[in-house]
Parts: sequence; C-alpha cells; structure tokens
Amino acid sequence: IAIDSSKIYKEPFRPQFHFSPEKNWMNDPNGMVYYKGVYHLFYQYYPEDIVWGPMHWGHATSTDLIHWQQKKIALFPDKLGMIFSGSAVVDLKNTSGLGTLANPPMIAIFTYHDMEGEKSGKTNFQTQGLAYSLDEGNTWLKYEGNPIIGNVDIKDFRDPKVFWNSVTNLWNLVLVAGDHAQFYTSKNLINWTFESEFGKGIGAHGGVWECPDIFKLKVANSNEEKWVLLISINPGAPNGGSGTQYFIGDFDGKSFKTKQKEVKWVDYGADNYAGVTYNDAPKNKRIFIGWMSNWHYARNTPTKNWRSAMTVPRELSLEKLRGDYVLKNAAVEQLKKQVISEFSKDVLVIPANQTITLIYDNLNQSEVKFKAQSKNLKLIFSNTVKDSLVIDYNVTKNIFSIDRRHSGFVNFEENFGKEIHKTSIPNIISKTVEYRILLDWSSIEIFLNGGIYSFTEQIFPKKPYTNLSIQSNEEQEIKNITINKIKG
Ligand code: FRU
Repeated sequence: IAIDSSKIYKEPFRPQFHFSPEKNWMNDPNGMVYYKGVYHLFYQYYPEDIVWGPMHWGHATSTDLIHWQQKKIALFPDKLGMIFSGSAVVDLKNTSGLGTLANPPMIAIFTYHDMEGEKSGKTNFQTQGLAYSLDEGNTWLKYEGNPIIGNVDIKDFRDPKVFWNSVTNLWNLVLVAGDHAQFYTSKNLINWTFESEFGKGIGAHGGVWECPDIFKLKVANSNEEKWVLLISINPGAPNGGSGTQYFIGDFDGKSFKTKQKEVKWVDYGADNYAGVTYNDAPKNKRIFIGWMSNWHYARNTPTKNWRSAMTVPRELSLEKLRGDYVLKNAAVEQLKKQVISEFSKDVLVIPANQTITLIYDNLNQSEVKFKAQSKNLKLIFSNTVKDSLVIDYNVTKNIFSIDRRHSGFVNFEENFGKEIHKTSIPNIISKTVEYRILLDWSSIEIFLNGGIYSFTEQIFPKKPYTNLSIQSNEEQEIKNITINKIKG
C-alpha cells in the first residue's frame, strides 16, 4: 500500500521534508531513475531491525522529490547473496530483450554480497547481478544468468552505476574495486566489457572506494562540458568517517582522465554519504540524493522504529572559480513550494560584540536565509534546555565550523559529538555570503553562496530549537533575512 510517510510518522526526530523509510534500517540510495513522471528511489534496506542486516532494496516513489510514497520491497536476497548498492535504468530500446519495445523493462544492476563466501575466507564474494521489472518497478524478476559480472579476486568489488551513453550509443557502467574505479561498456546491459580503471594513487584513499557515479555537466556561463566522477570513501572523510569526493575531468565512454591534483568533497558536513544521481531526470537536470548519516555512528543514533533519512534532493551544477572547477549542490527548486513565510526583514544590523536573538515557537521545520557581509559571523540555534548548535564563519582564518558537541543527544556514540567540524573555505571570494539553512527534526543542511559549499549534519536536540542568536566581533549588516516554515 502506498503511504505518504510525511503525513503519518511523527515520532521524535522523524524528518518531515526528507525521505525516511516507514520503519527499520536504511542506508545508501540505490537505483535512482525517473520514468513516466515518477522519481524512483530504491535504497539499502534491512526490514527486520533498525541496524544493518542482510540487505534488500527498499522502494519509494515521488512526483515532486519532496513527498514520497512508500512501496513494497523491490529486491530480496537470494542464493547468490544479499543485495548491495547499485543503480537502475529504463531500457527504452529493449537492448536486453527482457521486455518489449512497447513495454521497455526497468533494469536494476546491483552487487551480490555472498556472506558464506566471505566467511569461508574467499576474496571473490562480491559480484554484479541484474533484475528487471515489466511493471514500472512494482515487481521484479532476477535475471537467470546472474551474476552478469563475476569476480576474479577483488575483495571490495561493488556498487555499479549504469547509464546510457548517447555519444557512443552504448551502455556504460562504473563500479569500484577497492582503491579504484573500473569502467565497462555493453550493448545489452547483460554482457559487459572491461575498458579501463581510474584512481590508484589519485584522490583520497583513507578508506575503500564505494558508490561511484559519473555524468556530464555544462560549466556555467560557458560552452564547456566536463565529466564529474563521484566516489564515496569510508573512512577518510575530512571530518571523520564517511564522505564523498569528486573529480572533474573527461570521459570518452571508455576511460576517465583528470588533471585535478587536490581532493574535493561534495559536502563538508559529517552526514552526506553514498550519494548518487538520477538517470533520465527531466530537463537534463542532475539530481543528487545522499544518505544522511555516517558509518561512524549510523547504527547508534537515538531513533526508534526507523533509522536514518536521505538528504534533501539537490541539483548539481559546475562552475569555474579562479580557474578551478567547483561542483555546486543546492536544494531542488521543488522545495520552494513547501515554504511558508514567517518573518522577513530587509536589513538587520548586528552591533559589534552584541547578540541579537530571534525567538520562535520552534525551528524544527524551517528555512533561514540571508545575505551577510564577508565578516566573522556566529549563529547559535538553542532551546529551553540549553542545547546549542553553533555555526561559526571565521573570515580572518577562512574557517567555517559546526559545533554540535552540545546540540542535544550526542553520547550515543563517542564520535558523534567529539569534535568541532572545521572546514577551510577559500572559495568564498565575494563581498557577500549568502546563507541558506534547512532544519528538519534531526538534521541541518547549510548552503553557502548557492551551494559552492554545503554542510549536512544530523542533530538530535532534546527539545526543538526555539532561538536563533546572531553575533559578530564587528558590526554586521545582514540583508534580506527570512525565516520560513517548511511544510512536510
Ligand atoms: C556504502 C556501502 C556500499 C555497499 C552498501 C552495503 O555505504 O558500504 O559500498 O554496497 O553500503 O549496504
């Protein structure tokens, strides 16, 4: 039965404008594909507990990326193993022969994880499998010839992302193999040819590579096009545990090349992992969704009945700043429809070394937006039981920090509230800094200057935040401040 989870579930910490499963454990987003007006979101799912277990693919659908219908479980483990992460396409030309031209199959390609194989000490226990649906994702059949990509001898060999390459007229697939990515091509989604590998000795390698994605984007204000390769790693993220890096380069359908030297991250907060993008989204948009958690403490967060949520869906874009490519991510425009305006002021002057506090009934589901001068600025969200979340932009040192050490419940796992998360942000070069902050019942997402930097963090306040305090050591002029409610 279809359920609109945003309307029904109101347990403590339950997000209201982010996707979370009706019940039990969720991790990575999988199989994101848009077809006939519907966004499909599959996800790593364990239906029997709120901790990780034998993986299935859960399923939800949406027409606006904000409201989700909970669907039946799509893929169950079978004799080849559990169903790990992967992707989905609609095989419009029926290249696979698994459907018809009139009713093209939806095809999921995922990783089989063979537990028995792993226990017996083998290293080839991850292979790639295929499943197809002839009724737009409602029911699924496993392909009889699985696995479609076997494993020679690589321990971490997983998370295939497949897409149609309209230049080469072939299917492409990228997966990860421990410390690198591998690229494959196919005419029919079933037989795959290995083409090349990328990544040994390049980029961040603090942990294994996971959940790759690759796509082309136009560089803003130019005719240039570049390919973006996303690679999640765990551990090894800048603020500990799991994080997603990206590479900008060129891809000819067979191999990916980049001149990039430094490591770049999609999001600098602690809780945006395993994010990938939609195949076939309308208007050629690149829509990204990440898992709003971190393997450091994902199993321990203080929720009951269900565990974890996805980030707000984000539109990705590319910009060149001072000769360097930057991947921007900003909440999708559909979110605007959910906003109810509560407070706005054209100019708010914050005198040096004074605190201005705005007080609300609660800020649990809210959007805070304003333009600040490029000067030091501290924002403190707090409540009546003295929880506080401190966001501090130190312009002199170019450091942006998020301090959730006293933000509410933090002791469920030692890594969660141990340190202030600091990021050096050299790319804010304008005189004004645009803030957009989204707060849901257990998360904060901060976007600076339209998403040049984004920071996503989970928070578990003991009571809803009611106060927003603003401080600076110099006089600050804040413009166009609005505080809005976000409907679920
Ligand atoms: C990333 C990941 C993937 C794997 C899945 C298993 O969070 O470790 O590499 O396919 O989770 O649930």
